Amino acid sequence: MSLLFHGGDLQSASVMYGRDPHDWLDLSTGINQYSYPVPAITQDAWHQLPYVNPALIKAANSYYGDHPCLASSGSQSVIQLLPAILNQLGNQKTTWLPHVGYQEHRQAWSQIGDVHTYNGLDSLLAAQQIDAALNDDEQNGGPDGLGNKGHDKMSEIGHLVIINPNNPSGETFTPYQLRLWAQRLHTKNGFLVVDEAFIDTTPSISLLTQKLADNIIILRSVGKFFGLAGIRLGFTFATQTVLDSLAKELGPWSVNGPAQIVATAALKDTSWQANMRCRLASQRLEQLDLWKNPLLQLGARLVASHELFRSFTMAPSIAQKLHHNAANNGILLRPVDINSSMSLLRFGNIDFSQAGALKRCKTWLEQETP
Ligand SMILES: Cc1ncc(COP(=O)(O)O)c(C=O)c1O
Repeated sequence: MSLLFHGGDLQSASVMYGRDPHDWLDLSTGINQYSYPVPAITQDAWHQLPYVNPALIKAANSYYGDHPCLASSGSQSVIQLLPAILNQLGNQKTTWLPHVGYQEHRQAWSQIGDVHTYNGLDSLLAAQQIDAALNDDEQNGGPDGLGNKGHDKMSEIGHLVIINPNNPSGETFTPYQLRLWAQRLHTKNGFLVVDEAFIDTTPSISLLTQKLADNIIILRSVGKFFGLAGIRLGFTFATQTVLDSLAKELGPWSVNGPAQIVATAALKDTSWQANMRCRLASQRLEQLDLWKNPLLQLGARLVASHELFRSFTMAPSIAQKLHHNAANNGILLRPVDINSSMSLLRFGNIDFSQAGALKRCKTWLEQETP
């Protein structure tokens, strides 16, 4: 079970700050404010056991690409299962992950073996670190990792986890770069796991636009772009062998019937998807501008400007103060500890159609930067 701290926990925030759970402006997640309008749910969907409907898989293949896939109750459930499966199907060496990123990956992998982190804020630095480690492995160990005298075991790359784009740091890698790393990992029986939970606003950089190599696993979430985190639905794209192992662990009926109906409609609705991409892209600067100058004035640095969130790094004391003051004004933000001298604050999107939301943010910001 995961005990990590996540955004969107209005119940805990309400207890902590003595506020009605309905009286929050929740900016603590990257979930789209403009959710897909859910269709009517047929009585059968509530009544029948939810075997996977072929219509859902057909809709997923038309939206994501024509690759073997598996639906699950959120990508989270797969994140928890993948390490044991990939360690069994591949090597048992160290897994490399970003030092800043969705921490459930790290938690899951560290339960079964060694993990090592690369820079999660700067993709150039990260690429240098990953390339250097792969070069080092190839020179020291050869393709099978033997003959590795005096070599630091932790710096070997067994499997590589990439969050593309990274939540909360916005770090991104090109598909070309990722495919090269997958090729190099293949020679040592390693897997490349790419979590594309936040890629729907820029689908052209998804690895699903081309045929997938056998050692690549792609995770997609229906929760973020479609604003449907509550239905708990995600998809995994991988070889049939990996998908079969996952399906065995997930057990039967892992995606409920109502979720299947809603997601089938959402994944097929190409005009909603196109309009939403345009709407989010056209609002991106406005969403950023609200926070940028006040935060820069307070000494923060902008690190991510995604269509669904923006993040700033700053001294931990400033992040704590801002998070706390915002909460006292009924605004929930997402603080992320990075190290003893740096924290990050992530700001989700405001629904501009709600006049009160913008006013609440401006009132708070005026208190911070008089
Ligand atoms: C990068 C990333 N991957 C995966 C998940 C899990 O999403 P879900 O289980 O809703 O598909 C999250 C949730 O916040 C996330 O931020």
